[in-house]
Amino acid sequence: MTARPAPDAGREASWPRHRMRREREIAIVRRVVGGWKRLGHRVAFVPTMGAIHEGHLGLVRRARASAERVVASIFVNPLQFGPQEDYKRYPRPRARDHALLAGAGVDLLWEPRAQDLYPPGECTRVRVTGLGDVLEGGSRPGHFEGVATVVLKLLHVVEPHLLWMGQKDAQQARLVEQMCRDLHLPVTVRRGATVREPGGLACSSRNLYLDLAQRAQAVGLSRGLASALRALRDGERSAARIIGVVRRVWREYPDLVPDYVSVVDAHTFQPVRRVQSRVLVAVAARVGKTRLIDNLEWGPP
Ligand code: PAF
Repeated sequence: MTARPAPDAGREASWPRHRMRREREIAIVRRVVGGWKRLGHRVAFVPTMGAIHEGHLGLVRRARASAERVVASIFVNPLQFGPQEDYKRYPRPRARDHALLAGAGVDLLWEPRAQDLYPPGECTRVRVTGLGDVLEGGSRPGHFEGVATVVLKLLHVVEPHLLWMGQKDAQQARLVEQMCRDLHLPVTVRRGATVREPGGLACSSRNLYLDLAQRAQAVGLSRGLASALRALRDGERSAARIIGVVRRVWREYPDLVPDYVSVVDAHTFQPVRRVQSRVLVAVAARVGKTRLIDNLEWGPP
C-alpha cells in the first residue's frame, strides 16, 4: 500500500511559511491571488488593523487549516474611528507584526495606503441598518459604517473564498456576515473563538495601552462574563438579573467605567427580556482612556 502524502506536504515544501510576500498595490494583490485561484487554491483572508496578538494569530492558524493560501491585511482604517478616538495613537508595531504573521503562516500580507482605499473624491459608504446601530454602533456613531465600507473594499480586492473574523468583535462579525449575504458576495464568513490572556482578559490590540494596574481592572470584564455564564448555567433566564450579576462583579473594579452590559439576541442584536434562544451578553467599559469590549455567546441546552 502506498502511503498518501499529507494534503499539505507539497505546498509546505515549495512555499516555506516564513517567506511571506508583502504588497501595497491593489493590482498586484489581485494578480497574486488570481494566480493562486487559477491553480485551484482556496484562499482565506484575515483582515486586521495590525498590533497583532494571539487572537489574530489564532485566526491565521484557522485560516491556514481552511485553505491552501492565506492573505492577511494590515490597515488602520481611519473611517471607523470617531473624531475623539485613538486613530492617531493606535499602535503600529510593523516589524513585530510582520514577523508574527510570517511565523503564523501568512502567504501574502497586504498593507494598503489610505489614499489607495480612499482616493480623493471617493464617496461610497456601506451601512448595515439595524445591526450597525446598537451596542458598539450606539456608543460609536459611524463606526460600523467605517467597518462595513472598508471590509467590502478589502473583499473586492482579495476576493477570498473564506473570510475569518474574531468572535471577540461579535457584532462586527455578525454585521459582516449580514453584509456579505445581502450583497451576494461569494465568500464564506467564519468566526474564530476569542483568545484570552491567562487572567481572562480578551486579547485586543488596545490592551497595549494598559499598564499593570489598569490590566488588573480590565480583567473585570471577563470576570463579570464568567459570573454571567455561571448564572445562565444555573438556570437564570432573566436578562435584567444577568446584567445585575455582571454589574455586581464590576463593583469590585472601581476603575472600570461601564459603558454597557446588554443581553441581546445573538442573531438580531435586539435586547431580550428572557433568555429563550441563543444570546450574546455584550459588555463595554473604559479603563482610563482605553475602551474595551468583550462578550459571551450562549444558548439554552
Ligand atoms: O477588527 C478589526 O481589526 C477591524 O475592524 C477590521 C475588520 C480589520 C476592519 O478595519
